[in-house]
Amino acid sequence: MTSSSEIKGTVAIIGGTGLHLTRIFLAEYKKQFPVVRITTRDVNSPKAQELAKLGAELYKTSESFDDVLSGADVVVNALNTSALEEIAKPLAAALARANPRVYFPSEFGADYRLNEFDGYEHPEWRRKRVINADTEAALKGTQTKIVLVATGMFLEWLFSPGLGIDIENNVYTPLGSASTRLATTAEDDIARAVAQLAILSLDPATASRVPAHARIAGQNVSYEEIRDAVSRIKGVPKGEIKSKNLEEFNSNLKANPNDNLLDYIRVLVGQGKFDFSSENANELVNPGQSLWKWKTVEDLLRGSL
Ligand SMILES: NC(=O)c1ccc[n+]([C@@H]2O[C@H](COP(=O)([O-])OP(=O)(O)OC[C@H]3O[C@@H](n4cnc5c(N)ncnc54)[C@H](OP(=O)(O)O)[C@@H]3O)[C@@H](O)[C@H]2O)c1
Repeated sequence: MTSSSEIKGTVAIIGGTGLHLTRIFLAEYKKQFPVVRITTRDVNSPKAQELAKLGAELYKTSESFDDVLSGADVVVNALNTSALEEIAKPLAAALARANPRVYFPSEFGADYRLNEFDGYEHPEWRRKRVINADTEAALKGTQTKIVLVATGMFLEWLFSPGLGIDIENNVYTPLGSASTRLATTAEDDIARAVAQLAILSLDPATASRVPAHARIAGQNVSYEEIRDAVSRIKGVPKGEIKSKNLEEFNSNLKANPNDNLLDYIRVLVGQGKFDFSSENANELVNPGQSLWKWKTVEDLLRGSL
């Protein structure tokens, strides 16, 4: 029987100059993933060169993914949404040819299976649904397991007036109750969770425990708790909570759909659909925080991400 420490594989990260995945795989998972390949449109960019110095093998993002995927055990897609659509079909075809053990599509956000935006869903989620269905069809009959990782808001993106979290002005504007929680995960922790899911997927003893939908939440935190943390850590009075009516906001969005993803996320948060407390893969990837300590809003406020 193998143990996770004996797992060794090659990982290919599509769009590997973006999220923190490449840096964490190179720095913390070298033993399990001695070969880290990434694609980038510009192999000479400072970011690509910096990752190459750390040990990443660079491949140019192009129509053909056969080279970068050849012999890869794990493939992670980290492309941004605008790039996803044009690349989805050739990538799915190349994945079917390469037949890696596990593929992580570019997700890392909402658990949009729970969405109820009938007829006005944000195009980002519609695009991801179509791409994932096409990829699943292309990979049917192969050994590749597709794992969709939902991580809530990136912790680094959480303090956003567009989400109603305005820490500069110390004003908090949830839709509905200020005690409803939302999932948030730091980028480094997302990378660690993906690496752990990859290791578990490569180990025959644990592969079946890896869910097709893995919800990860470094922290589930409410507007009220964020407000209190800001007060405690910055030494300012507790800020004002100005709750807005959820139904009214959602009806307005339905009548006037827009491009701002944060408006839709706010509705999901208000509806409790961004709270990953009750069902998540945290214990699977990081039992009892034995592998790392999840970063929290407090860490963000202290500048220690
Ligand atoms: N939950 C959240 O709060 C949150 C926040 C942000 C993003 N996300 C999700 O995370 C994933 C990554 O998004 P991101 O915004 O972080 O991506 P990003 O950093 O904007 O892009 C990732 C990489 O994609 C490559 N790329 C960009 N445009 C491209 C194009 N037109 N053609 C080919 N390659 C291109 C770039 O690499 P090169 O320039 O080196 O080619 C870039 O480093 C998405 O699925 C997104 O929805 C979630």
